[in-house]
Amino acid sequence: MRVLQNEVPKVTPWEVKGEVDYNVLIKEFGVEPLTNELIERLKKHAGVLHLLLRRGVFFAHRDFGDWLDSYEKGIRVVLYTGRGPSGQTHIGHLIPWIFTKYLQDIFKAILYFQVTDDEKYLISPGVELSEIKKYAYDNILDIIAVGFDPERTRIFTNLDYTKEIYNIAIKVAKHVTFSTAKATFGFTESSNIGIIFFPAMQAAPCFMHQIIEKEDAHVLIPCAVDQEPYWRISRDVAPKLGFRKPAGIYSKFMPGLGAGGKMSASLPDTCIFLSDSPEDVKRKIWNAFTGGQPTLKEQREKGGNPEICVVYWYLYYLFEEDDKKVYELYEDCKHGNIICGDCKKNLTEKIIKFLIEHQIKRKEAEKIIHKFILKSRQE
Ligand code: TYM
Repeated sequence: MRVLQNEVPKVTPWEVKGEVDYNVLIKEFGVEPLTNELIERLKKHAGVLHLLLRRGVFFAHRDFGDWLDSYEKGIRVVLYTGRGPSGQTHIGHLIPWIFTKYLQDIFKAILYFQVTDDEKYLISPGVELSEIKKYAYDNILDIIAVGFDPERTRIFTNLDYTKEIYNIAIKVAKHVTFSTAKATFGFTESSNIGIIFFPAMQAAPCFMHQIIEKEDAHVLIPCAVDQEPYWRISRDVAPKLGFRKPAGIYSKFMPGLGAGGKMSASLPDTCIFLSDSPEDVKRKIWNAFTGGQPTLKEQREKGGNPEICVVYWYLYYLFEEDDKKVYELYEDCKHGNIICGDCKKNLTEKIIKFLIEHQIKRKEAEKIIHKFILKSRQE
């Protein structure tokens, strides 16, 4: 999506701002573009390609081909993803989770799902631990509602499953110098010492299966590309600990609803939260930034600009399954055959339907949460 912003682009695990050029990011982060050849290889296993692949939302990777090789050779493949519980879950967070579920279903893979309550406490000024823990529980219900297999999904929070994670994290930390951490994450003299250690906590699950289950495994991390700096550390350390380097598959960012496309949980009207009511959705989508002309007459005559329209991008990213309809929407907008009100109504209906279903599954998740949560082993 093209966004209208004057800010200098910046993508870190804690901040995404400015107009993100994904081709530049591929070079900057040293990741590989997800090629048609790789997508076709995945299709052989999947049968059907997920729309997030068909539409290029997942656009980059590291060693995804090697991970497929491992699967084809019968080596254990494992998935790893996560959430930092700083607030309610929004639709953007679902992008990697929906995709992870798709991969879990295809490869029947064990999934390690880390909830970094420690991270969010450390980076959020003035926030109490109790508040973060409440969000962690809340977010876990959203995670379970995505439909992960309870037999194969292991969710844990760093502050509860500490003994196991910390025992792995120190092994990672021993191999990462402060100078590397500083260069990778931009730490400064005023960064608190907790957050400086934290990258080892997020790297640790890359080696959990191997260490806890004592089994060779090839890990794949599906996430948005902002998390990539962690995997640089994990991949550097992996051979030093005698493990395979984790592979990764990375998505673009679902845009926010305002002009400029920034999604920020601190500006609630820029995001659709999974707990939103139909009224919230109607209001937010009605006020969303579009590429429409100021008047109906001009829209009909000159057409709109779907490239900068968040309503179009929401349909494109997640809410319109039919590729032909997405294409027609684009063309109809450009040629003034549809108006913004039509698109907003269409998207509002789709999101409300999706959220009602999600909220029912979330309620059911309360009853089965115990099937997913990893408990520390008592000695
Ligand atoms: P967090 O909670 O910021 O984000 C959770 C996941 O959602 C992705 N994401 C998005 N994807 C698409 N569009 C967006 N607008 C958008 N915003 C966020 C993030 O990339 C992430 O995949 N430190 C992590 C938690 C974590 C983790 C992990 C994430 C721990 N281990 C392993 C991925 C993989 C965090 O705070 O994520």
